[in-house]
Amino acid sequence: MTQADPVPTGFDLQASGLRKTYDLAPGPGRPKGQQVHAVRDVSLTLRPGRTTALVGESGCGKSTIAKMLVGLESISGGAVRLDGGPLDSQAARKKAWDAKRRIQMVFQDPYASLNPRWRVSRIIAEALAASGLRGGAAIKARTLEILSQVGLPEVAADKFPHEFSGGQRQRISIARALACEPQFLICDEPTSALDVSVQAQILNLLKDLQDRHALAYLLITHDLSVVHHMADHVGVMYLGMLVEDRSAADLFSQPLHPYTQTLLETIPRADQPGREPPRLSGEVPNPLNPPSGCPFHPRCAAANDRCRAEQPQAIAVSGGTVSCHAVEEGRL
Ligand SMILES: Nc1ncnc2c1ncn2[C@@H]1O[C@H](COP(=O)(O)OP(=O)(O)O)[C@@H](O)[C@H]1O
Ligand code: SF4
Ligand SMILES: [Mg+2]
Repeated sequence: MTQADPVPTGFDLQASGLRKTYDLAPGPGRPKGQQVHAVRDVSLTLRPGRTTALVGESGCGKSTIAKMLVGLESISGGAVRLDGGPLDSQAARKKAWDAKRRIQMVFQDPYASLNPRWRVSRIIAEALAASGLRGGAAIKARTLEILSQVGLPEVAADKFPHEFSGGQRQRISIARALACEPQFLICDEPTSALDVSVQAQILNLLKDLQDRHALAYLLITHDLSVVHHMADHVGVMYLGMLVEDRSAADLFSQPLHPYTQTLLETIPRADQPGREPPRLSGEVPNPLNPPSGCPFHPRCAAANDRCRAEQPQAIAVSGGTVSCHAVEEGRL
């Protein structure tokens, strides 16, 4: 399929009950057999033309999920399915070679993810060749077409990554991903390394490309304000788990989990320019020694004895689910 062809509407990428456990090597002060449960029972679905966002503080497991979806990390538990077929093992991925092309990733640091010794034309040509395009003239024409789609001039093809600004480099990363004619784009903090003034341009570009190609996005960020105008669905993660998982409309209009509420309060507001947003109090717990009960309880103003003892289960709420005893009990 070329990108000019009609886009199939039936594709989807689904993760269900996804888990990732890292075995840590023993070392000074670290006994043998210690494990980090980086991702615990996370489910999500990516669909054409839709954006699912994952938000949460650093270390909560977002990048690990991204890597499992693109096959850069093995899966400890749960399942990944592409159009209903399993994609759990490396063997299954090899068989479904097309999956590699269909699921592309855009990384946080556009400099580290681009080969500094390659001109842009070669970076994109390699992706085009990997996705099956043959012939120098065809590759050159397609390279220029893709550069234009991401808002870069033709002369960009002859330059090296270091000759561009951060925002332009991220455009090159996006161009490289587009060269594979993907259906799914996993964007891991795509604007975090960029100046604020450039962030909106890259988000607008991503939105424009999604509209043109019906791309399914997983947008990963620690910053809820980034997802506000992009996401259709939002998963809020804390210590490897989804604590609130809802339509963006419901989550932004009536956030239910105390952690989500606090994250939303920390967004700087355009209508209150002088307002100093509150900081999230307390430290993220050590994932090697997670709190008992609800993992958020040491930082939660609504915590009670049940919260300290019993891990909350996901309950159905408007537009999705939330895992909080206080919501279930009607205390919040
Ligand atoms: N290769 C690894 N070995 C051991 N622990 C890891 C590894 N990669 C990530 N982790 C741990 O897994 C947790 C989740 O990390 P990560 O997915 O990078 O979080 P985020 O992207 O949300 O910042 C963290 O506690 C991190 O230290
Ligand atoms: S379960 Fe308890 S500690 Fe956890 S978020 Fe809800 S109220 Fe707070
Ligand atoms: Mg990360």
